Amino acid sequence: MTELLSIKEASSWASKHLNKDVTPSNISYLIQYGRVPKIGENGSTYVNRFDLEKYYAHNSLSKEEIWKGKLGDDLNWDLSFANYKESETTKHVHRLHPYKGKFIPQLVEYFLDNHTDKFKKEIFFKKDDIVLDPFCGSGTTLVQANELGINAIGVDISAFNALISNVKIGKYDFNDIEVTYRYITKKLKEFQKEKNNLAFESELLEELKIFNNENFPSPEFKYKISQKDFDEKRYGQEKENEFLLIYEKLLTKYKIELKQKGNNTFLDKWFLQVIRDEVDFVFDQIKKIKNQQTKKILSIVLSRTIRSCRATTHSDLATLFEPQIKTYYCKKHGKICKPLFSILSWWDRYSKDTLKRINEFNRLRTETKQRCLRGDSRNIDIFRELEKQSADLANIAIKKKIDGIFSSPPYVGLIDYHEQHAYSYDLYGFERNDDSEIGPLYKGQGKQAQESYINGIAEVLLNSKKYMKNGYDVFLVANDKYGLYPKIAELAGMKIVNQYKRPVLNRVEKSRTAYAEIIFHLREK
Ligand SMILES: C[S@@+](CC[C@H](N)C(=O)[O-])C[C@H]1O[C@@H](n2cnc3c(N)ncnc32)[C@H](O)[C@@H]1O
Repeated sequence: MTELLSIKEASSWASKHLNKDVTPSNISYLIQYGRVPKIGENGSTYVNRFDLEKYYAHNSLSKEEIWKGKLGDDLNWDLSFANYKESETTKHVHRLHPYKGKFIPQLVEYFLDNHTDKFKKEIFFKKDDIVLDPFCGSGTTLVQANELGINAIGVDISAFNALISNVKIGKYDFNDIEVTYRYITKKLKEFQKEKNNLAFESELLEELKIFNNENFPSPEFKYKISQKDFDEKRYGQEKENEFLLIYEKLLTKYKIELKQKGNNTFLDKWFLQVIRDEVDFVFDQIKKIKNQQTKKILSIVLSRTIRSCRATTHSDLATLFEPQIKTYYCKKHGKICKPLFSILSWWDRYSKDTLKRINEFNRLRTETKQRCLRGDSRNIDIFRELEKQSADLANIAIKKKIDGIFSSPPYVGLIDYHEQHAYSYDLYGFERNDDSEIGPLYKGQGKQAQESYINGIAEVLLNSKKYMKNGYDVFLVANDKYGLYPKIAELAGMKIVNQYKRPVLNRVEKSRTAYAEIIFHLREK
């Protein structure tokens, strides 16, 4: 069979086929090194689509084989979810707000749904059951349980995480949200007219365009960077300093204040004064919203907006180093870039995106009940708290008890869960309970931290047992690099009855080592 593709066509076909970016130069490489045969016609280069398909099929197969060789034949390749597109792993409400450390919805589905396969030989949960997630995080278990017709209770120590979870599974008046966000957007635009940051930004953008065209012409500049004898760092620094003179002049002309006066809170430190003014303005508008559900969802939109407007360089968005309040040479874009001076575009974009996502979920949702409680899973009285917050779900739960757990606990010394949303704690004034987090980053990974982690997770399981039926099933997703789970199970009076090994592919892109996460299945001893 033949189906000839030009290099460009081959690159877009392969990008779709593999669901990742395959550039024309990737294709040229395959031809040049004889991985796929070159077909020449009238001086042009083509490849046969079926040759490419064969090449990629063979290559992904060998990756699976290599990994199994390293991690064992019981590696469940299906759990890598490698064939899912990003839009599926972040479907509908799962992308309402960034959250470091969430698991993908397909993993939850795999264990909660009613399929069986070579690895999952039993069905563990059925419709109308109740599942508990004592480390609820951003609510992935609650949302997927809802889709599958299963009731769910979540607990999280972080007030902000409980809010995200409850917002995801909330029901809304879509019309009210739309009218309200449009009104706030209109008000924000009026507010901006009273200020001069927009005029400042538009002149700054003009100047940047001229400067960048002259000093970083594309693609010539990218080519220069690829040359060994070109010192990108020095050139970038030189041009950065040159542009700063123009920047300073504009700041003076428009009387723009960059830094805020205070430096006590995260919001003081990581946001330019102009951004802070707009954030406070929108927050004041949100405070006035009468419909509580609309108020909650727009609070999440504002929080997502704020996160995107922190004063950072484009390459440091995930890890904050120093506030970036000036124009700078950006390695990512190969030109001079600027910090943000208005929240409007993100606010507008996220409002629309949120509305679309809650609508999508609304079409899939079942009439089952879910609720995330704020509390410490080591000692929370789950049924009593539930009675206060969701009487319907409390009634069902008290009668039939909880069927089991699906959860991913924090791991020793990896993430500070409160701190990752510090900006929202500042703005909304939620109480912080950093001290009650199990295994936070700030306590490290030493012996003492491991001991306290083991006890903490075991206490959570012991407390959860009070609310579960006999014959419960517990599933814990963990990266147990210190081998702590056998001890945890023992302390909790449970035994590990199975371990599912899931290949974690994304990490490999970075570290290039085969790595598996374990899903521990525990039952009463
Ligand atoms: C790995 S995350 C869970 C992520 C979740 N599976 C998701 O998809 O979003 C662990 C969560 O445990 C919470 N946590 C830590 N200590 C806790 C405690 N003592 N009680 C309840 N939750 C706790 C953290 O706040 C964090 O949200």
